[in-house]
Amino acid sequence: MCGIVGYLGNKEKKEILLDGLQELEYRGYDSAGIAVIEGEKLNSFKAVGKLENLREKTKNFHTEHFGVSIGHTRWATHGKPTELNAHPHIGNYSYVVHNGIIENYQILKKALQAEGITFLSQTDTETIVHLFEKYHKELHDPFNAFKQTVQRLEGAYATLLITEADPETIYFAKNGSPMLIGFDGDEIYFASSDTPIIGKAKEVYYLEDGEYGFAKAGTVKLYNASGEKSFTKQALTKDKVLAQKEGYRFFMEKEIYEQSRIMGETIMGRVLDESIDFEELDKEFFKDIHALKICACGTSYHAALTASYLFERIAKIPCHVEIASEFRYKEPLLNKDTLFITISQSGETADTLEALKMAKRAGLRSLTVCNVDNSSIVRESDRAILTRAGIEKGVASTKAFATQTMVLWMLSLYVGQIKGMISKEVLQKEIAAMLHTPKALIVNDTLHEKIRRLSKRYLHGHGFFFIGRDLFYPLALEGALKLKEISYLHAEGYPAGEMKHGPIALADSGLFTVALMPKTLHYEKIKSNVEELSARDATILAISPEPFELADDFIQTAYDSHPMLEFFEMMIVTQLLALEISVRLGNDVDMPRNLAKSVTVE
Ligand code: M6R
Repeated sequence: MCGIVGYLGNKEKKEILLDGLQELEYRGYDSAGIAVIEGEKLNSFKAVGKLENLREKTKNFHTEHFGVSIGHTRWATHGKPTELNAHPHIGNYSYVVHNGIIENYQILKKALQAEGITFLSQTDTETIVHLFEKYHKELHDPFNAFKQTVQRLEGAYATLLITEADPETIYFAKNGSPMLIGFDGDEIYFASSDTPIIGKAKEVYYLEDGEYGFAKAGTVKLYNASGEKSFTKQALTKDKVLAQKEGYRFFMEKEIYEQSRIMGETIMGRVLDESIDFEELDKEFFKDIHALKICACGTSYHAALTASYLFERIAKIPCHVEIASEFRYKEPLLNKDTLFITISQSGETADTLEALKMAKRAGLRSLTVCNVDNSSIVRESDRAILTRAGIEKGVASTKAFATQTMVLWMLSLYVGQIKGMISKEVLQKEIAAMLHTPKALIVNDTLHEKIRRLSKRYLHGHGFFFIGRDLFYPLALEGALKLKEISYLHAEGYPAGEMKHGPIALADSGLFTVALMPKTLHYEKIKSNVEELSARDATILAISPEPFELADDFIQTAYDSHPMLEFFEMMIVTQLLALEISVRLGNDVDMPRNLAKSVTVE
């Protein structure tokens, strides 16, 4: 999703901005732009499409002296991905970049237009720069003009503004969208996440919601609703976790293959010989907790749904799962005996973050399962368990899902232990399966080749149904999501037993059914469901350790001793299937159309 980089100092600004934006590229964007003020000189460039287009446009532009600069990658929300709609947006003498959504922009825009101001773009962002210049005209004071502007904005924003009226200053404000300030002596950096400034800044301050201010002459002045505020910088990690394809065709492929190795890290120090331990948690944290509520989006929601089966089955604790964007507006009833759990790969998903804030306002204790330390959701939560998946670059999440699911499985045992709901025998059996999981995640070349070959038969048809029961229903949802994200084919996940209540009407040879048929969970039940589809001529791709004679295509899995081992093995099959279909269709596997890695707007 949109990315922001800003820099104030003497170095070559164009390179700092472009390199920083490159670091954010994997999040997804459709246009990019930069603006620089150096002395009296003001320059800006924008380009639709990939950053190479912007690099090409700026190839003869260089900066040599002290100056201020801002850059942005845009993922279209208001208005098409055109050059006019790309950031930075210009007023008469100022530029602005912005992540998030200004919810009241139409009201503000109408009022500004009524005063004779012309808008060039269809974006909500442009309102900020015109509002600033309006107040500047009235107040003749850039800082107060910016402050007044920020006070008028409703919604989520992280924004940077530079202006010829104060050419050595960067103005900033943050509410609901992430933003941080990096420091290296007199040089000051801004970014929407820390990757663009690692290796450049030495210290960092993560802005809080409601904070705004300005950077000038090597210092930062910070304010919130109570006035000027002091702040403490913290050391910024020096190690950039560089993600490379390492010989794989795509990041997604690499991330599928590395699931086995990283799962070892996810369980390290947590799955012990006779117990599960999380150094992040303690017994006290669960005191008087009698229910769990999990909120998440997309793939993380599927991990949450999987967990709801495990929490109720293993820990015997009621567990409700909700899609964060739905939860926010349903006026949910929240009890303080409920632990509020969020799941997020990025830790920046706006809906999940807002759901968490709601739960906190209602006085609930909160825990997040997240892949990114220091992300907004981690900082907002009372406790955080990191999934240790490493940076995930493919927009279609794979290893994040695997590690989230593993953490939640461990957590269900941990809670079961604390509540005294789990026998020694069950604990031992689960621990043995957990320790075996890295093995079940090894991608076998023969299997991959088989999936590659059979993928050619699944490039058409009028849709896919991924079906499963119990734990394999969320996996079916996830398999369908993976396929639609990168193949652009229609795919749905469905509980197998529910097909006869409607969707079976679609069954014919053009309906592709991917049937998840584990041996260890309700095999006979799902077999009957698949037989019903086969009888109506649906094309069946069955995945099971048990040979299934009615399948048109069959992938035999190896594990048949524990549902979670079957789960992870089948997860690999569905991930590879989506990947190979997408490759055959010639799609951009790592950066599928219309999608963003980090969804920071609601
Ligand atoms: O970063 P999060 O886990 O909070 O993101 C939630 C979803 O946006 C994300 O899982 C999305 O569905 C992925 N593209 C799935 O592959």
